[in-house]
Amino acid sequence: MASTSAPARPVTAPAGRMAAVNEMTRLIRLLFEVEREFVRTVPTLVYRVGEPELKYLICQHVWESAGHARFLRERGRELTTFGSTESVRDPLRRIFTEAVGVNSADPLVIAAGFYGVLKPALLAAYRHYLKVTDPLADWPSKKLVEEFIADEERHLREIAPYLQGVDAREWKLHLTQALDDLGGWLGQETRLPLAAGYVWQHEKTPYTHPATCNRGSYPVCSGVFGLDPKEDPIVRPWLTDPKTDARVIRLMVYVWLMMEMDAIDYLSTVFIETPTAPFDLHYDLARHLWDESRHSQFGFRQLPKLGVDLMTVEHSLDLYNILVQMPPHERYAMMTMEFEANSFPTKATVMDRVRELNDFEADTLLAFDRNDEQNHVRYGHRWLPEIMALFGETRSTEDFVKETKAKFYQLAEIYGGKVPHSLPASRRLTGEKILKLAGVT
Ligand SMILES: [Fe+2]
Ligand SMILES: [Fe+2]
Repeated sequence: MASTSAPARPVTAPAGRMAAVNEMTRLIRLLFEVEREFVRTVPTLVYRVGEPELKYLICQHVWESAGHARFLRERGRELTTFGSTESVRDPLRRIFTEAVGVNSADPLVIAAGFYGVLKPALLAAYRHYLKVTDPLADWPSKKLVEEFIADEERHLREIAPYLQGVDAREWKLHLTQALDDLGGWLGQETRLPLAAGYVWQHEKTPYTHPATCNRGSYPVCSGVFGLDPKEDPIVRPWLTDPKTDARVIRLMVYVWLMMEMDAIDYLSTVFIETPTAPFDLHYDLARHLWDESRHSQFGFRQLPKLGVDLMTVEHSLDLYNILVQMPPHERYAMMTMEFEANSFPTKATVMDRVRELNDFEADTLLAFDRNDEQNHVRYGHRWLPEIMALFGETRSTEDFVKETKAKFYQLAEIYGGKVPHSLPASRRLTGEKILKLAGVT
């Protein structure tokens, strides 16, 4: 029972009254900004590393980090001082911008910087949060942070095999010094101010995208769609010809899916160039990216089961090479309003043909692909006007898309078709070889 004789408490200084909540909110806000920045910058690794499995893994981590950021924002908004903006403070942002490196840097060294310095520091920040918060009062945050710690530990385990033997000591030291200047992401450690001679590399050499994407040891070419079964793996008219054997169509559609690695590579370029995008735009881009990485994996994992040696499947580089010549809003317009929006009729025919095979797995993969693609076109309608606005684009969306398509096909004349076949026709996967693999001839 309250004592009636207690002196009345002053009604001023509400900030002091809520100090415990405000302090935890400050940390949640910092964690949100760090996860956001990871999503903005780490995709620059995707097209720079060559190993498909590593590309896929990074796409998955970007998606999971976007999820962390979203839950942190949701929790933050329940707390009064989180703030209504989503901006990232400069001292934090510049470390991520630095971590991207220059485009000539060894991508595995850059990956070692992210995963050997910035991510472990995030894990340490989450652990610090658990240590200093009240487990009962702040249970909602605690629950999230416990899950994120498990994710962060797994991310480090998953990346480790790819970074084995990579000598990144110098680069990691460089980033560690920048981070020590903040005393860790939450300022929870003793600050070690930067030496006077510290040089921010991104201020001297701003990052630019490489002119082409890396596919490691895999053979490459300009494009995989064509008309000549002696040259091309996906023979366009065969996809919709009722006389084509369904087993041939299944192999061709798996090649098609695997080539969505194109989409992974060029979509990854958009994040870093849209630093002021609303978080929800990056969140949907991260989802889009992860979806494409799974679609590509459908082909990458199924083709060997059907007897295809992946070292004979050339990767098409034209789309990246052409799109990287265009600004990000034009890239995004081509992706969602041209390539994706127009893929549905052919894919529907393909799905109906594949169903003749009673291949439940193939049917499942294609159905999920279709479902995802419908979402991607929705994202396009939702975000294209916003991403256009970020670049000061004032044309109507309709005119912009029309003129961007025309521009793309002009640029294709200059930048397309320039990648020679890595393999002679006798060695690479072609329509004719697909007929043999399918047992048709
Ligand atoms: Fe896709
Ligand atoms: Fe898509």
